[in-house]
Order: sequence, then structure tokens, then C-alpha cells
Amino acid sequence: MKTPDQIDWNFLGFTYTQTPYNIRCYFRDGKWEQPTVHTEETIPMHMAASCLHYGQEAFEGLKAFRGEDEKIRLFRADKNAERLQSSAEYLKMAVPPKELFVEMCTKLVSLNKEYIPPFTTGGSLYLRPLLIGTGAMVGVKPSNEYLLIIFCTPVGNYFPNGMKGIKAIIDRKHDRAAPFGTGHVKAGGNYAASLQSGDIAKEQGYDSAIYLDPSTHQNIDECGAANFFGIKNNKYITPSSHSVLPSITNMSLRQIAEDLGMTVEERDIPVSELSSFEEAGACGTAAVITPIETIDDPANNFSVTYKWVGPVTQKLYEKYKAIQLGQVPDERGWNIIVD
Ligand code: PLP
Ligand code: COI
Repeated sequence: MKTPDQIDWNFLGFTYTQTPYNIRCYFRDGKWEQPTVHTEETIPMHMAASCLHYGQEAFEGLKAFRGEDEKIRLFRADKNAERLQSSAEYLKMAVPPKELFVEMCTKLVSLNKEYIPPFTTGGSLYLRPLLIGTGAMVGVKPSNEYLLIIFCTPVGNYFPNGMKGIKAIIDRKHDRAAPFGTGHVKAGGNYAASLQSGDIAKEQGYDSAIYLDPSTHQNIDECGAANFFGIKNNKYITPSSHSVLPSITNMSLRQIAEDLGMTVEERDIPVSELSSFEEAGACGTAAVITPIETIDDPANNFSVTYKWVGPVTQKLYEKYKAIQLGQVPDERGWNIIVD
């Protein structure tokens, strides 16, 4: 394991760097046990665990930041707890209590605080909670045992070029999720299902695939592993669809947009509307707010180019980051200060 002074904080990218501790909590005999702190990176597991065979797995992603004031802030962990609960309910897993999740995240950040990138680098500590079915079974049914494990790793930009505009291609051959499927929860299987189109997009020179709604293939659903938004006429417009993951970044941006006097619309965005946007972007914990430069739809000979970074996207980005870094008052209590 690298010591903090061996890490090149300015060139982290979105990759795994080992940190000293992870935290685990088992659900056994119908109840959640006490969380325990671990230094090993591996998980002892039965080969018949339900997560391995039947994909009984859900995960989360959230970040902690070191502010200019050196205070450590964990962003909206309560919302990730709620989304993990909703994933667990849908996938028939034991539902971790919100307080347990938040307590585990807070403790993990505190234990690994030396590995939170310095304020000046723009990096963060990314927390990755996993909920997995660990009970041994061969029948297709929910496990009787679960493990909630949270590890963390320092990260930089998700897209290698950072706040540069990305190029995206509409994928008309693959869906990320089914119309009444698991798109609205953070099931690991959704991401396995997206690898094919992600690879095809990259082979064609794009940064990301854009998914259409799987029912009609008329409307924008998501931009890779991030939500989509478009800006026009002082409006923040974002898709509303059962197959879209309810993004906590998007939820925060909708609030910030309202606070900035914009109108927020959550509704279908037909592909034909793309050319009317003044700006467009992808948002998520990993992607933060990434401006979109181009969207191509080769099947329809369609292409649109946006200005990046557009002034509205820039304003949203600045306010969002300022809240996370403690540079403006945290009026809605989104941050937990970690000792
Ligand atoms: N959509 C997908 C498919 C994602 O994987 C993510 C990442 O979590 C998001 C959207 C953004 O969600 P959030 O802002 O909560 O990270
Ligand atoms: C996140 O933004 O936290 C994500 O989960 C996206 C991803 C890297 C899968």
C-alpha cells in the first residue's frame, strides 16, 4: 500500500488506490450485527453465495472532500442510504438501516482521512458501499445472509479530460435496462449489461453511450453511468423515466437550479428536442457535472454540438462544488462534517 506521501494526488483518475481500512457489517439470523473494521482487501465467501450466481448485489457511490478550511465533508450520505434501501427492497435483500449506513460511511472516512486528496488537487475520497447476498444456495431465491461492505479510494476525474466537453453517441442497438426492469435501482447487473455499448462507443471514438428509454426508444434516458440534463430558456430539463437511476447529483442540481431562479422540468426528452438545447451535460457522483460537446445519432444522420462549458452549466458546477467544499453555507444540511 502506498503511503499518502507516495500518492501523486494530481494524477489519480478514477482508479483504485488501496486505503488502510474497510468496514463490514453482516446480516445473519435475521438481524444486522455490529460493524467491524478490516485491513484486508479480500472477502471470504462461500462459492454458492447468491451474489455470485444470481447477481443479488447492489452498490452505491458517494464522496468525501477536504475543504480549503481542512474540514472533511461527506456529501448527502443519507440519500445514498435511502437509494441502497430501495435497491435492497427491489432485489429482495436485507435492508440496511439508514443510521447504520451513515455511521459506517462516517467511520470509514474518519479512519482513512489521510487518503482524502488535498483541497488544491480537486480530488475526493470515493466511497463504494456494496450489499451482497452471501448465503449458500442453489435455488433461485433470496439469500438468508448479507454483507454490507464499504471501501474507499482517492479519485480524480471520471472522464480523463475532466471538465472538457465529452462526445456521446446514441446507442440504438442496446438497452441498459428493461422497461419494467432494474434501471431505477443500483444493481451491479445493470453495469454488466452496459459494458457492451460502452465498449462499442469507445471503439468509435466516443466518451460515452447515451441510452434511450427502453419502452419507446424515442426519449433520452441516461448518459453512460450518469444522468442527462439539457438547458434552454433558463430551464433545467432532465428525463423522467422508470429505467433511469435517480441520481443524487441530479437531485442536488435541480435544487440548485431552482435556487438560481431556473425552472426545473422532469419529463420525457425526445431525441428530436436535443437540437433545441443551449447546453447539455452528464451528472453523477463520479462524473460530477461533465459538459457534453457532441451527441451523434448516426442511425438518423443526426448530430448536435453544444458550447462547453456553457455559462449555466458552469454556474451549476460552481455552486455544487462550493457546497461540497464548504465555500458557501450548507443551507440544507447536505454535508456531514467528519472528525
Ligand atoms: N446513472 C447511473 C446509471 C449511475 O451509475 C449513476 C452513478 O451513481 C448515476 C446515474 C448518478 O447518480 P449519483 O448522482 O447518485 O451518483
Ligand atoms: C457513481 O457516479 O458513483 C457511479 O456509480 C458511476 C460509476 C462509476 C459506476
